[in-house]
Amino acid sequence: MADELVDGLLAAGPPADLVAHLATPLPIRVICDLLGVPVSDQDRFHTWSEAIVSTTSLDPGLAQEYLDNLLAYMGGLVAQRRVEPADDLLSAMVRARDEHADRLTEEEMVTLAAGLLAAGHETTVTQIPNMVYVLLTTPGAWDTLRERPALVPVAVEELMRFIPLGATAAFPRYATEDVELGGVLVRAGEPVVVNIAAANRDEAVFPDADRLDLTRTVNPHLGFGHGVHHCVGAQLARMELRVVLETLLDRAPGLRLAVPVEDLTWKSGLLVRGLVAMPVAW
Ligand code: HEM
Repeated sequence: MADELVDGLLAAGPPADLVAHLATPLPIRVICDLLGVPVSDQDRFHTWSEAIVSTTSLDPGLAQEYLDNLLAYMGGLVAQRRVEPADDLLSAMVRARDEHADRLTEEEMVTLAAGLLAAGHETTVTQIPNMVYVLLTTPGAWDTLRERPALVPVAVEELMRFIPLGATAAFPRYATEDVELGGVLVRAGEPVVVNIAAANRDEAVFPDADRLDLTRTVNPHLGFGHGVHHCVGAQLARMELRVVLETLLDRAPGLRLAVPVEDLTWKSGLLVRGLVAMPVAW
């Protein structure tokens, strides 16, 4: 899939938009394939998924409408798989629900399916250009990977640590009992809002934390969260990020930004921070 999309990127330029030609369609195709969602519906569900990652980009009425649309859409696909099972994750979830009614309620299943579809692409779609951006704007970084492509898996972990993907602190955790954290007493029932990006630059854990080190091997970053809610799609996301970088390094070794960094536009009003478009040349 990555090769096919890079064909399209190369045919469209230079310059060509990496967001439109590669970063957006790849994770969408992958999650559609896995779940069993028709990729031809992407314009609709991609629009609706913004409700899941919006902070202020959508007004509350529209966000609710998009969320309702997304849940109704997934509900429709679930009903269809119940009648006509296929070899996909949606059918497996329906089977798990129907064979063991105590494992998932109907509402949980539809919400989880919608969550997988939205989380399965909004984050990775944004992180691909973020990674390429950092590699192209940090002196020597792209060349290091070009010379040593075997470093890509280690580099992906470092980029996950280094890039503040979350535009804001999200993911509240509630104390189940009084607990002291960093010298502050958090009482039972109180929330703590975690800033993953700050944790990922903790000097006590990562020596020289503000430096991108593509060879950093001890890297317990929190880019995919931690504990019971650790990202269920982490391995899939890692694979997508690695494959995209390996394919670009191989097919477009001379990749560079086609506009000055000041001319790039960043998304706003979303949980995730990323580029609206990324014109590149090679
Ligand atoms: C670069 C890509 C990705 C990043 C940075 C990312 C990041 C995260 C983080 C930080 C969490 C923890 C949230 C918390 O602590 O409450 C999380 C949870 C989750 N992620 Fe991802 N994710 C990515 C890709 C994916 C993909 C591809 C999928 C689906 C296939 C996915 C599905 C989920 C789901 C369902 C959860 C909730 C898990 C739970 O609450 O038990 N994510 N992700």
